[in-house]
Amino acid sequence: MKFTTLSSLLLLPATAYAQSSSASAAASGSASAAAPSASAAGNSSDYLTTVLGALTGAGLTSLVGAAQGIANTTEGQALLGSLANGNKTVFAPSNQALSNISQDILGNSALLTQILSYHILNNTYTAAGVANAPNHTIARSLLRGGNYTLPGNFSAPLVLTKNSTNATSFEIVQTAANISAGGNATAANLHVYVIDQVLSLPQSLTEALPAVAPQLFGLAGSIPGLADSLASANGITIFAPSDSAIGAIQSSLGQLNSTQVTAVLSNHIINGTVVYSTGLASGNYTSAGGEPFTFISNSTGAFVQSANSTAKIVQSDIILNNGVVHLIDNVLVNTASNPQAAESAYSSATAAAATSTEADTPVTATSQATGPSASASGSGGSSAGFKVAPIAFTNSMMGGIVAVVGAIVGGAFTLF
Ligand SMILES: *[C@@H]1O[C@H](CO)[C@@H](O)[C@H](O)[C@H]1NC(C)=O
Ligand SMILES: *[C@@H]1O[C@H](CO)[C@@H](O)[C@H](O)[C@H]1NC(C)=O
Ligand SMILES: *[C@@H]1O[C@H](CO)[C@@H](O)[C@H](O)[C@H]1NC(C)=O
Ligand SMILES: *[C@@H]1O[C@H](CO)[C@@H](O)[C@H](O)[C@H]1NC(C)=O
Ligand SMILES: *[C@@H]1O[C@H](CO)[C@@H](O)[C@H](O)[C@H]1NC(C)=O
Ligand SMILES: *[C@@H]1O[C@H](CO)[C@@H](O)[C@H](O)[C@H]1NC(C)=O
Ligand SMILES: *[C@@H]1O[C@H](CO)[C@@H](O)[C@H](O)[C@H]1NC(C)=O
Ligand SMILES: *[C@@H]1O[C@H](CO)[C@@H](O)[C@H](O)[C@H]1NC(C)=O
Ligand SMILES: *[C@@H]1O[C@H](CO)[C@@H](O)[C@H](O)[C@H]1NC(C)=O
Ligand SMILES: *[C@@H]1O[C@H](CO)[C@@H](O)[C@H](O)[C@H]1NC(C)=O
Ligand SMILES: *[C@@H]1O[C@H](CO)[C@@H](O)[C@H](O)[C@H]1NC(C)=O
Ligand SMILES: *[C@@H]1O[C@H](CO)[C@@H](O)[C@H](O)[C@H]1NC(C)=O
Repeated sequence: MKFTTLSSLLLLPATAYAQSSSASAAASGSASAAAPSASAAGNSSDYLTTVLGALTGAGLTSLVGAAQGIANTTEGQALLGSLANGNKTVFAPSNQALSNISQDILGNSALLTQILSYHILNNTYTAAGVANAPNHTIARSLLRGGNYTLPGNFSAPLVLTKNSTNATSFEIVQTAANISAGGNATAANLHVYVIDQVLSLPQSLTEALPAVAPQLFGLAGSIPGLADSLASANGITIFAPSDSAIGAIQSSLGQLNSTQVTAVLSNHIINGTVVYSTGLASGNYTSAGGEPFTFISNSTGAFVQSANSTAKIVQSDIILNNGVVHLIDNVLVNTASNPQAAESAYSSATAAAATSTEADTPVTATSQATGPSASASGSGGSSAGFKVAPIAFTNSMMGGIVAVVGAIVGGAFTLF
């Protein structure tokens, strides 16, 4: 749907405000963005009423239905409760987008909560603050826990990049196809973009790798236990040689024994640390084989080096549920290994994650995908200051909200 009715977020029917004295919605571009004012538990119902009312007013009835579908579960209430806590960006799937989602998913409130969590970023992001293509902005969503556990309790990120032909819009980078975030509006503390597809949750390694690097997946499968150890790692970075890269040195690979193949593969992995394109240039990393990596950035692109092998990063930031994959154009043929250094790098990573405070602040590092060096320039809007106490929802509150929202649209909308 084209979001031609952005201003309708302002034009809530009076009934939307019937029980709401403090919360309000404002259209983007209006001089004064309204404060959410959901600081007291007594106002949380007002807050949600306003927000869901604004979304309903904008025609996003399926999304409102989805929100109501999770409202009586613990995870769902936690998600809805966290909405009021600081500025958020919401990628709101259109009714059409949600209609393509299977009933099985819509009926599974745990899964639906995860999906909705991945559509919400913990800060305000506008095109102006998003990196220019091919550089990426790594933006933390509200999706974390369960199968989406990252070191330091970080949440799963979305990858954003500015549209190269339209500086006022940006794309959400996904492996299937980028999704365009165009027009925006604000509703209380929420910056809302309507998108025409539902975002895919980050895949596991065993789901993602066969699609981007099938040969590598096959090779990893030949080493007993490796694929499982990668899939279950708490934080992993993989430099994945493309099929053509592996094809190019197939015959020399064939001459290596399994110890050497294991070492070569391990020297493509950072164990225990998730390094997105934005972080490559700013740290010293040791491979799971215990060998140091070197990163080079110049006008040709970003390169990774191990011993005497160099590879160009041709596609960065393929997000996994437990880490990230960067596709490279060459195999790093380093058969050396240093188990002690590997163990020590892993221990340091685990220790760093345990004391990391970064998870408490929105991460808006901006840097390159294939371009030169990565200075993390803060972007995507402000990140400090606004704080309201988390609000708790009870089922009776949610009942009230459902009733009010129902009243707004005259009971005409149907939930799934
Ligand atoms: C939530 O509500 C739905 C529909 O009213 C119901 O089927 C489901 O059992 C409820 N879940 C919980 C956890 O109360
Ligand atoms: C979103 O809104 C802001 C103002 O709030 C504006 O500067 C920006 O251009 C809008 N559009 C996008 C795509 O960020
Ligand atoms: C984790 O993934 C497995 C396999 O895909 C799935 O069966 C399980 O329900 C997931 N658990 C959570 C908490 O998402
Ligand atoms: C960028 O914006 C232009 C114009 O709005 C649009 O036609 C194009 O599809 C967008 N690019 C991408 C990659 O979505
Ligand atoms: C650029 O993107 C903005 C925001 O989505 C949109 O309003 C505008 O029409 C686009 N411009 C072009 C030339 O497509
Ligand atoms: C990561 O390190 C841990 C602890 O040393 C080890 O058990 C695990 O197998 C390693 N994973 C990989 C992929 O090397
Ligand atoms: C593999 O080859 C290396 C180098 O020739 C050798 O040191 C090692 O013992 C071999 N390992 C096995 C398991 O054959
Ligand atoms: C990486 O290691 C080099 C050499 O030990 C050191 O000079 C540099 O400061 C380190 N960089 C970072 C980001 O730790
Ligand atoms: C950039 O670095 C790579 C890897 O070292 C090198 O092959 C390439 O020639 C460099 N490009 C420029 C323009 O210096
Ligand atoms: C969002 O960011 C705030 C800090 O601004 C932090 O306290 C909060 O834990 C973050 N929320 C999530 C869900 O990551
Ligand atoms: C990508 O980021 C690098 C490093 O910050 C910068 O030098 C380069 O100009 C950026 N590329 C674009 C297209 O903005
Ligand atoms: C939230 O957004 C408003 C309006 O753009 C801004 O004034 C405020 O500083 C932001 N708060 C935070 C914590 O970023």
